Amino acid sequence: METKFLFGGAIAANQMEGAYNRGGKGLSIVDILPSGAKRKHALHNPLEAKQTVYDYYPSHEASGFYDHMETDLDLLIALNINALRVSISWPRLFPTGLESMPNAEGIAFYKAMFSKLKANNIAIVCTLCHFDTPLYLSENYNGFASRVTLDAYVHYCKCVFDHFHEEISHFITFNEINMLLHFPYLGGGLSTAVSELDNNTIYRAAHHMVVASSQAIAYARSKYPRLQFGCMLAAGNYYYYNCNPDDVLYAQKKEEEQLFFADLQVFGKYPYFTKRMFKEKQVDLRFSQEDLDSIQNNTVDFVSFSYYCSRLCSTDPEINKQQTDGNARRTLINPYLQTSDWGWQIDPKGLTVTMNSLYARYRIPLFIVENGYGANDVIVDGVIDDSYRIDYFQQHLAAMDEAIAGGVECLGYLAWGIIDLVSNGTGEMKKRYGVVYVDRHDDGSGTFTRIKKKSYDYFQAEAESRCKHV
Ligand code: BG6
Repeated sequence: METKFLFGGAIAANQMEGAYNRGGKGLSIVDILPSGAKRKHALHNPLEAKQTVYDYYPSHEASGFYDHMETDLDLLIALNINALRVSISWPRLFPTGLESMPNAEGIAFYKAMFSKLKANNIAIVCTLCHFDTPLYLSENYNGFASRVTLDAYVHYCKCVFDHFHEEISHFITFNEINMLLHFPYLGGGLSTAVSELDNNTIYRAAHHMVVASSQAIAYARSKYPRLQFGCMLAAGNYYYYNCNPDDVLYAQKKEEEQLFFADLQVFGKYPYFTKRMFKEKQVDLRFSQEDLDSIQNNTVDFVSFSYYCSRLCSTDPEINKQQTDGNARRTLINPYLQTSDWGWQIDPKGLTVTMNSLYARYRIPLFIVENGYGANDVIVDGVIDDSYRIDYFQQHLAAMDEAIAGGVECLGYLAWGIIDLVSNGTGEMKKRYGVVYVDRHDDGSGTFTRIKKKSYDYFQAEAESRCKHV
């Protein structure tokens, strides 16, 4: 059978659309978050953030995609890509999460978008929940800590499948499901302040998310068997700092914590290390047989992941003092790697390492659904020379090719934030990932004009050769 390598870009509704209170949309958990230095505190203290008035909310207008959808898609179509990862804003369809019928304007918006992509032979990879649980469910039910949110999510997913099963081929049920451990508000809509959150609540939410995912998959498979489903994790292997066996074991344990979610969604059962992990974390939960059966009977078809950096860990408290940022998790500084302006370590070979180890564990196709370089691009004489991003893409694509040459099955590669969008971690616009620049700035100024960067031409040529059927 002819298979197509999916090559393209990725965006997310809450970081791209804006129009946060238009078209019948309800508030999402990100709509109360500020940008810059205040954002992290707000993420860890959502109820306090809700009471605070900030001078700027980056998600409210984001990149203005809601108003630029047609022309943005034209730019992506001209890029020659054959796949685009998007997300649906849950509260754009169900403003509080609890309505029985979806918001018709929201349905119409996505219908227009998906129809255009389909008409141009661009496969749609759709994330059902990319950090935007309806705020109402977060505030009133503590997000996925409650089965009310589980049920609301499944209801929302069914509606998406019924409306868009003809346009969409691949679904990701939750973006970076392991984010629940690091930013429980983003990951699971948990509104409890992190300092007051106990592990029982976190792992109860984890269970509910995995059950919700399995119930959504069950419904889709019974009605639309063509659809493909993936779990999604923030990946990047833990390296151990040195050959001290304590460090090696520690790195293994850190991996287990992250892979716990994918283990559940791929193998359909709680991993072998759960008992000890729960004991150490003082988690005491009982799960119904019905839930366990649902998880077991509705496993995923592929393992999708974001890759930005590897991590480094040690058991030595002295060594642990030298840390830098990374996607969601801080890490030790790896002396062999360069860092971006945001302290994220650039490790192309780490992508090969990550793919090799994920495939060795799961033996089902992988899918790189996020990878890219966040940088403060500048315009000089009307030109944006982001050669550093071209280098980044070249090195990471070569690293992916290396894993594939070694036998790893990979469905595709999707570049994160293919059109500039708001950073999830910092809420900044100046942390740009796109091959298309958006004239929008952190003080709220800008015309939303789109400008092709130097990397646009590079990516277009790459897409041209990689999108050929193989
Ligand atoms: C992933 C998220 O964590 O990393 C994206 O799925 C996010 O939403 C991306 O934008 C890059 O992180 P940041 O903080 O640079 O936007």
